Amino acid sequence: METKLVRIENGDEESEKALQEAARILRTGGLVAFPTETVYGLGANAWDETAAGKIYAAKGRPSDNPLIVHISSIGELKPLVTNIPEVGRRLADAFWPGPLTMIFPKNGRVPDTTTGGLATVAVRMPGDAVARRLIALAGVPVAAPSANLSGRPSPTTAQHVWEDMKGRIEMILDGGPVGIGVESTIVDVSGTVPVLLRPGAVTLEMLKTVAKTVEIDAALGGKPDPDIRPKAPGMKYRHYAPKAELTLVEGEAGAVAAKINQLVKERMASGGRVGIICTEETRGNYPEGLLRSVGKRSQEETIAHNLFAVLRDFDDLQVDCIYSESFSREHLGYAIMNRLTKAAGYRMIYV
Ligand code: TXA
Ligand code: MG
Repeated sequence: METKLVRIENGDEESEKALQEAARILRTGGLVAFPTETVYGLGANAWDETAAGKIYAAKGRPSDNPLIVHISSIGELKPLVTNIPEVGRRLADAFWPGPLTMIFPKNGRVPDTTTGGLATVAVRMPGDAVARRLIALAGVPVAAPSANLSGRPSPTTAQHVWEDMKGRIEMILDGGPVGIGVESTIVDVSGTVPVLLRPGAVTLEMLKTVAKTVEIDAALGGKPDPDIRPKAPGMKYRHYAPKAELTLVEGEAGAVAAKINQLVKERMASGGRVGIICTEETRGNYPEGLLRSVGKRSQEETIAHNLFAVLRDFDDLQVDCIYSESFSREHLGYAIMNRLTKAAGYRMIYV
């Protein structure tokens, strides 16, 4: 299959034509990758069992891992769910459109292929204008996981999508680099108390300003426990995995740098190609190794924004192992550390 890659600029005629074409592809059962404010998504008509099934094939994704259904206006929520709990309504008022996904009891019309056979459905109204325009033009809800091959870091540019999806899907809409860079926050509102399943840019602290109590899914605690089944099936896979072995080093900045430098020396002495993930504030601490700054500690949104691109960069550099600094788990740091510890397969060194 030939994959069309089209740049979308605000308001020009070519872009409008491309959006119309993309909407037609979605309506007729094809796959289109599109920008959102979090990461690029790989979309299909959520009502169409066959189309949703193609997503799993294109990504090489296990079919028990459900998709997020994207809508362009609040009216599109009702047909997807059996009811909208009060707290879900309040969270939607506060954070939609935006980087928040909510889990609702699903309407029987939503195909099992879309929801991985679950009795619930994940729904999100993205903040990105191109995404919402595409969904509105398609006239159907759009099921979309992140547009990466299963097991690779989520794509934050159309180039990343091209690397993973060329030849596998009909079209890629290039809306430039995404804003946020980590996937949406997921909250399950189908039970009595909202439960956080995946941290994101709508932070736990922000959720608590709207929903008095928010529980945290047991599976978010750290290393997967075989006795704890995550409520978001996708959270059990070793997602966001770079090809190299990644290890996080946590502690006071000076001690972290000393430990990383020691480990780098040892690995280089045995002939390894070694990468280091540091920050603008700490890059001067590392004399050797392939160094990548992921952003500024004083502006953690820059770290979220660059994280997956840095992991992909190290894949291209074909390093054998990567040592990374750690981050605070507050606010957006919770999402950053969640993705990093998963990418590291929970390999951590405390100094
Ligand atoms: O920011 C995002 O959410 C991006 C963009 C494209 O919107 N999408 C995304 O999708 O990250 P994906 O498929 O990579 O992650 C979806 C996560 C998976 O962990 C999946 O298991 C979980 O959502 N999920 C989907 N439906 C669910 C449900 N009914 N119950 C629990 N978890 C669900
Ligand atoms: Mg994903």
